[in-house]
Amino acid sequence: MWGGRFGEEPDPAVTPLLSALEVDAHLLRWDLLGSLAHLTSLAEAGVVPAEAAQALGRGLREMLAETDAGRLEAAGDYEDVHSFIEATLAARVGVPAGWLHTGRSRNDQVVTAFRLDLKDRIRRLVSAVADLQEAVLAQAERAGELLAPGYTHLQRAQPVLLAHAWLVHCWTLGRDTARLRDAYRRVDVSPLGSGAIAGTAFPVDRRRQASLLGFAQISSNSIDATGDRDFVFEAVAAVVGLLLHLSRWAEELLLWSSQEFGFVRLPDAVLTGSSLMPQKRNPDLLELVRAQAGVGLGALVGLGAVLKGVPYGYHRDLQEDKAPAVTAFQSAAMAVAAMTVVARRLEVRADRLAAALRGGFLTATEVADYLVRRGVAFREAHELAGRVVRAAEAADCELWELPLEAYRAVSPRFEADVLQAVTPRGAVDARDTPGGTAPGRVAEATAEARATVTVERAWVEQAAAAQAEAERRLLEAAPGAKPA
Ligand code: ARG
Repeated sequence: MWGGRFGEEPDPAVTPLLSALEVDAHLLRWDLLGSLAHLTSLAEAGVVPAEAAQALGRGLREMLAETDAGRLEAAGDYEDVHSFIEATLAARVGVPAGWLHTGRSRNDQVVTAFRLDLKDRIRRLVSAVADLQEAVLAQAERAGELLAPGYTHLQRAQPVLLAHAWLVHCWTLGRDTARLRDAYRRVDVSPLGSGAIAGTAFPVDRRRQASLLGFAQISSNSIDATGDRDFVFEAVAAVVGLLLHLSRWAEELLLWSSQEFGFVRLPDAVLTGSSLMPQKRNPDLLELVRAQAGVGLGALVGLGAVLKGVPYGYHRDLQEDKAPAVTAFQSAAMAVAAMTVVARRLEVRADRLAAALRGGFLTATEVADYLVRRGVAFREAHELAGRVVRAAEAADCELWELPLEAYRAVSPRFEADVLQAVTPRGAVDARDTPGGTAPGRVAEATAEARATVTVERAWVEQAAAAQAEAERRLLEAAPGAKPA
């Protein structure tokens, strides 16, 4: 590509470090689209002779079709996917291939392709997360009004609806999706036409290029557009946020599915056996989900470390932006898929949940709250409730099984209705404020969560349709179409 200035080929010993093909071969489709858009604007501006433009258009279309059919892959002795395309095109169309690189650089080329790729990855991930959220919603609905212990400090704290505990994941995932969509807006900017650093000297219509590629905007500064990678960092950070949530959830399910908790049973389809112990049903999959947060976080930190200190304008350090992004998105795709199967297929063990609501005095707060409603200040009520708990412990019974006389021995304000108030169900029903665990509130929240997922799905559909429509217009406008 730059033979004229050089007296010899790169030393074979240095090519492995120079080469990016291993990490950018997957950009083939996007780089072909970027090339077609660039060619279109060169042809429309009359920069490339019509005949050469037609030949180039035919060559690029052919390569795109083969790529989409899985018949063309970027491989071989090339420095990167861009040089692969240039060489392949030259082999196919001959001399006209030499026109394509007019007025562009691999520096604007690579960020154009990478941004298209990240947009695609974000759309797919948001769609996969919506599937997972739906699996969570289905579990929440299946749970009905089943009660479960809520934990703080990994100690039983207060009863909640199991549905309330499932819905946690719908909300955390919803915020992850919101962050991914937010990052998408900043990825969705066309750098094409920025050249190597200073812009392009040919009258290409940058807005038209952007629209043919499905970008919402064009970049405003060619140095910034070719030299920054904050769009990658932000997208990967959003992915890592998702992975952190999945990791915590996986950890929770590891506990819940253990013999010690036994709240859920995982299907064989997500478990592995032991090579030695015949009885084992191991949750390796959840452990791997838990570990992906570490993998993703490592990628993010690595990317930040590569970017720090790189002056503005393109520097080759920036080539190391792709591997961390691919790693993080792949981890997330695998983790989301795994959690979706787990969430769809796990079985809840109602008997174990019911047993866990006994023995821990999870409704002691209700004893105090009962007294507060009868005019006792909370601190004093807390003290009196503590005595009731001690009485129940001494009698070896639950708070709702303790005789009323024992309550009245602690305070005359207790009446017979206290025995209903201190049941797990009484405790849950009492938490009837927005965001609380009372059944009516959980039903409201379920509907709200469902609506959020519907909005996410609509976003994915709209974004994917916009991309497909842009590509359709690009193929219509680009030179080299077969006559209809
Ligand atoms: N492969 C490079 C990258 O991924 C793009 C090529 C730009 N190279 C250059 N020497 N200017 O960043």
